[in-house]
Amino acid sequence: MASLHQFLTFIFSSIYIINGSCSSNSTPLSFSCGNGLEFRYPFWQRSHNTHTYGYPSLGISCINNTPIIQLDKHLYHVKRFNNSEKTLVVSFYELNDTICPMASHGVEMNASSRFLTYSNEVKMIHFFYNCTVYPSGVEPIKCLQIGAKHAYVFLEGSLPEVDLKGYCESFVTIPVMNKSVDGSLATSFGEAMNEGFELKWSPNHDCRLCEAGGGFCEFDDNNIQKFSCSCGQGRRYANCRNQGPVTNEFKIGLLSVGLVFGCLSIGGMVLSILKKRKNSVYKKGFNPLPNDGR
Ligand SMILES: *[C@@H]1O[C@H](CO)[C@@H](O)[C@H](O)[C@H]1NC(C)=O
Ligand SMILES: *[C@@H]1O[C@H](CO)[C@@H](O)[C@H](O)[C@H]1NC(C)=O
Ligand SMILES: *[C@@H]1O[C@H](CO)[C@@H](O)[C@H](O)[C@H]1NC(C)=O
Ligand SMILES: *[C@@H]1O[C@H](CO)[C@@H](O)[C@H](O)[C@H]1NC(C)=O
Ligand SMILES: *[C@@H]1O[C@H](CO)[C@@H](O)[C@H](O)[C@H]1NC(C)=O
Repeated sequence: MASLHQFLTFIFSSIYIINGSCSSNSTPLSFSCGNGLEFRYPFWQRSHNTHTYGYPSLGISCINNTPIIQLDKHLYHVKRFNNSEKTLVVSFYELNDTICPMASHGVEMNASSRFLTYSNEVKMIHFFYNCTVYPSGVEPIKCLQIGAKHAYVFLEGSLPEVDLKGYCESFVTIPVMNKSVDGSLATSFGEAMNEGFELKWSPNHDCRLCEAGGGFCEFDDNNIQKFSCSCGQGRRYANCRNQGPVTNEFKIGLLSVGLVFGCLSIGGMVLSILKKRKNSVYKKGFNPLPNDGR
């Protein structure tokens, strides 16, 4: 009887080890802002902590249940995304379904938006505001007319010959979806802006290698050059499958590998025994984001 008791104690302490150290390298926790969109890696939730799984430009903040992404200095509402196509659709945050919106800024895609590019369904449109030139045959935007100052919008490649910039107080170029630019832009531009535009995300070279080996890319939000490839349990290698170049966490890594194999075999044994007993004890755990602010 005593030996059975010892055996059970061993099993239950094994379960703690399994929960603590052997959780599989599963997809990092998903999150939602409460509006139904469920994000997961390579998206990550912005919080006070800075080191997290994901691509640096795919940090999401939740504001009033709305998922917000920042490109360069500006905020955009994330309206949709598609994990299999690796695309997301965003619109200017400040628009908020305004019927006759003005584009207060262009869209910068530079260092801060690495890992993101326009999808090939994006077209650029050019706005000119407060113009004192009236090119013939060009329909002004009626709802943005201020006295004799006209506003115009043109699809990329169809700017008039006139040097509009010389006669307009401001101009800005923004992306929209090609499917929203049918017909007269001067009346449909608001809808097109509210529809937003599509971006594609893709890993860089190191990150692609990392993911191909079953790992997750990690970046330091304060220094997006600081890349590491997480293989779970705090192990970091360039490639989780063949463990690539060895990092200074090599020893810890070896230990973890041993632990994982050990856990797997013990885990298998424990699970088969538990199946015969009750299955309410073992709760499958996620590998939580190390710093997701919860
Ligand atoms: C994502 O894209 C795939 C491939 O085009 C499509 O089949 C799927 O319906 C899309 N999913 C969503 C949620 O739009
Ligand atoms: C957008 O409009 C809704 C309702 O009209 C309002 O509750 C919300 O605060 C607005 N958001 C912004 C960013 O203006
Ligand atoms: C992106 O480009 C704009 C204009 O070219 C510049 O003002 C901004 O500082 C750049 N941002 C970064 C992060 O490089
Ligand atoms: C257009 O002119 C109006 C009034 O003169 C001014 O309030 C507004 O800021 C101007 N808008 C732009 C985009 O230049
Ligand atoms: C939008 O662009 C894509 C890719 O260039 C093209 O396949 C599609 O037919 C276009 N759709 C419309 C409505 O123009």
